[in-house]
Amino acid sequence: MQDDRDRPLRSRAWFDNSDDPGMTALYLERYLNFGLSREELQSGRPIIGIAQTGSDLSPCNRHHLVLADRIREGIRDAGGIAIEFPVHPIQETGKRPTAGLDRNLAYLGLVELLYGYPLDGVVLTIGCDKTTPALLMAAATVDIPAIALSVGPMLNGRSGNRLIGSGTIIWEARQKLAAGEIDDAQFFDLVAASAPSTGYCNTMGTATTMNSLAEALGMQLPGSAAIPAPYRQRQEMAYRTGKRAVDLVREDLRPSKILTRAAFLNAIVVNSAIGGSTNAPIHIAAIARHMGVDLSIDDWHTAGLDVPLLVNMQPAGRYLGEDFYEAGGVPAVLGQLLDAGLIDGSPITVTGKTIDTNYRGKTTLLPDVIRAIDDPLMEKSGFVVLSGNLFDSGILKTSVISQTFRKRFLSDPDDPDAFEGRAIVFEGPEDYHARIDDPGLEVTESDILVMRWCGPIGYPGAAEVVNMRPPEYLLKAGIRELPCLGDGRQSGTSGSPSILNVTPEAAAGGNLAIIRTYDRLRVDLRNRRVDLLLDEAEIESRRTEMRRSIDAHVPRSQTPWQEIQRHSIGGLASGAILEGSETFQRIDTDRGLPRDSH
Ligand code: FES
Ligand code: MG
Repeated sequence: MQDDRDRPLRSRAWFDNSDDPGMTALYLERYLNFGLSREELQSGRPIIGIAQTGSDLSPCNRHHLVLADRIREGIRDAGGIAIEFPVHPIQETGKRPTAGLDRNLAYLGLVELLYGYPLDGVVLTIGCDKTTPALLMAAATVDIPAIALSVGPMLNGRSGNRLIGSGTIIWEARQKLAAGEIDDAQFFDLVAASAPSTGYCNTMGTATTMNSLAEALGMQLPGSAAIPAPYRQRQEMAYRTGKRAVDLVREDLRPSKILTRAAFLNAIVVNSAIGGSTNAPIHIAAIARHMGVDLSIDDWHTAGLDVPLLVNMQPAGRYLGEDFYEAGGVPAVLGQLLDAGLIDGSPITVTGKTIDTNYRGKTTLLPDVIRAIDDPLMEKSGFVVLSGNLFDSGILKTSVISQTFRKRFLSDPDDPDAFEGRAIVFEGPEDYHARIDDPGLEVTESDILVMRWCGPIGYPGAAEVVNMRPPEYLLKAGIRELPCLGDGRQSGTSGSPSILNVTPEAAAGGNLAIIRTYDRLRVDLRNRRVDLLLDEAEIESRRTEMRRSIDAHVPRSQTPWQEIQRHSIGGLASGAILEGSETFQRIDTDRGLPRDSH
């Protein structure tokens, strides 16, 4: 095998430092105690970390505990030595008050591990929503050779002959429960049916989105993202990924060569074509900032809005993960986008080859699941990036706006892209749950539900609470959805027509903090504006008042990390990263090795 590197492996500074055998002995000694030999550790073979995100606490990624065996065998067969270690678990559905708190924590922890231990390269075991960005963010900061392996989605959920998608069914069944159409037992049965095997959400939620984008960014082997977790092909991919990790080290192929602006712009286009999650702009911004790539929320509008929707998966469409895989997965999407000239074929990927070489000619195998590009589900399926006197930026996912919603809200022939409505304001999800069904609130079918104090500082962590169902009495009258707006996030599995990720958040002094129930709002999609219909003087006087009361609405921190993160976290529009942490870039090449420990 060819060795292109002109630097020694970084692990040799620990295990084979001829200038200081005393330190080498100290480092070696404790890696020998579980059976690795001196002969192996001093053989000059690359040491490849397996950053393990699976555990009993994080069921979506738990199958990585099994896949790690195949990753190890791949690493061995290619001449490397595997060292597996745990990453701070992030379980989207299990962590209170929100898994949104933990992405940056896992990121920080992994940076320390990748930089401070004798690792030459790493396999990133990605899966559940925030595990993918956390690991890619860390690989970007350290900039050591890295390759990601998706754990894969669960098998399709079914109830009778109906496809039941994880997450999506919860939002739908909650409405049915509220409308009295199903009872508690039927509710739990539907939810259990949606999760029939190991793996992450089988819908096009944040997990499938981020795993697909990790492949589109060039950080996974082609075809890797969509393979369902229990399939044999998933094991095979784990083996090939382990093998390839060793060669990445030999070729010195680092994330900085892969994660370029062109690669990120491709990811934005792909996100539209797959009907990807509204969490993607947050995570993609975070990865780009840690890589030092200039990318703004407006790039989502410019590059992403006019892209056709190809993937027919819930919540925007019908199908689930197994279908996406059988239809050709991410390659079928990239191949078609390449053909149509919608993405750039030049970025290098972990294969050492370009996107063009890897994906040219790939196309859909099941045109109902992945549509042909000249027969899309929707012509323009990206996010509308909005601003106005209420906030600097918020996004609306157009691919989930239903026809009934369009008819009710966007049908004025004189003004087809705009609507006005009264705001019904909730001070957080507790307030919403307590009052939404109160007839005294007098919510009508043309109102807008507003949720605040739910951003990175306010919640804290930015919770997925902005998707709100209408009150029971409207559901019973057939009104299934109302527009929502808020400074929190929304689950990628939700199809609510919502203006999300509003920045600045109320807790940071954004004007969302001054809005009152029954104020009027105007949403104008063509001009990309959302405005609070109040005059300047009223806005100013409310702002003065708001500054005095803001603390009363922000809960106190319950843990040290909540408190620490609140002091330095930025807004959702710029990735909600720890501000200042992005100045640490490419630290493995730019900051030298860390000092000896003793
Ligand atoms: Fe983990 Fe959906 S909850 S992937
Ligand atoms: Mg989520």
